[in-house]
Amino acid sequence: MVLAMPNMLDIQWPDGQSAAFSTLWLRDNCPCPDCRVTQTQEKRFHIASVPIDYAPDQAQVEADQLVIRWPEGHESHYSREFLMGCSQSIKQDWQPWQKGFLPRYVDYTEFLTNDRIAIEAIQVFLKDGVIIIDQAPREMNTLEALAPRLGPVRELLFERIHNVQVDPNGYNVAHTNLPLPPHNDFASYSWPPSVQALHMLVNEAEGGRSTLLDGWGALEAFRAQYPDQFETLCRVPVPFREFDDNNETFAIAPMIQLDSKGNIALFRYSNQLMQPLDPSSTDTADFYNAYHLLSQQIFDSPFESRFRLEGGQIIVAASHRVLHGREAIETAGKRHLQDAYFEHDNVRNLLTVLKRKNG
Ligand SMILES: [Fe+2]
Ligand SMILES: [Zn+2]
Repeated sequence: MVLAMPNMLDIQWPDGQSAAFSTLWLRDNCPCPDCRVTQTQEKRFHIASVPIDYAPDQAQVEADQLVIRWPEGHESHYSREFLMGCSQSIKQDWQPWQKGFLPRYVDYTEFLTNDRIAIEAIQVFLKDGVIIIDQAPREMNTLEALAPRLGPVRELLFERIHNVQVDPNGYNVAHTNLPLPPHNDFASYSWPPSVQALHMLVNEAEGGRSTLLDGWGALEAFRAQYPDQFETLCRVPVPFREFDDNNETFAIAPMIQLDSKGNIALFRYSNQLMQPLDPSSTDTADFYNAYHLLSQQIFDSPFESRFRLEGGQIIVAASHRVLHGREAIETAGKRHLQDAYFEHDNVRNLLTVLKRKNG
């Protein structure tokens, strides 16, 4: 047994491969039935029950097992497979769009009834950030029927299932016939909905072609070209508000949020909901420099896809990544879209369950 550094245990497997493990991690992750709640497989052992410098009395490698005896006599057995599995970092599953990208279409009935097709479609959704569900009923609230595949509807203020049609009393630019620049919805929530479904019930208007844009793809290109400006957009908080007489939503956050490894985790981009920043702050000047460069790239982006969304089609977008918009509506033909929101965690988790169920 070698304690290479304080709180690290060095071992060597019989084939000569060496490995190092945090000693407190080893104690915390003992897989024995005394250290787990056997009924639920949850952890029962609590780290606060040992001192901070806790270390094994004995550690031995026996074939493909690490066996540790702890000071109070407790014995832990870890398989090599378990230890290796915990050492693998989770890999990102998204891929940036290439020029000319068009979303993959999947049939509505097959998506809901055929597990194999649903698994494939959700995997494409995780990679591309978007799929289009085709041949859906052109009925109100059809989006509720997607819950078995996408998880429960994430309810937000205004409406559970949001209606988007030209409406002189509407609270959002989407309720006019004006063009809608690329954006994601509800930047005015501290946790904006991470999946958005847009269901076209009827589209008899001319114009109004839908646009989708790979926001993370655009941001990675931006980061490579303008690293300082990218950092500014990660740093400077921006206020966003969406409201009407009966509802008030407000959040203040940077446009780009990264995870602890520096990967893009959340892009918040909405011209229509953005509120004034403090005009006398030098941060604001830095912000506008970066925001201008990024916005120019977004308006002339190889990461954009443009197509007509017909009645009975549903866009499902990973909305922390993919921006949506539409061209101006040219004529007064009937056009009715419904929006509902879901959560990316639920989609990923339901995929795991689906795969488990189907071996
Ligand atoms: Fe929108
Ligand atoms: Zn144990």
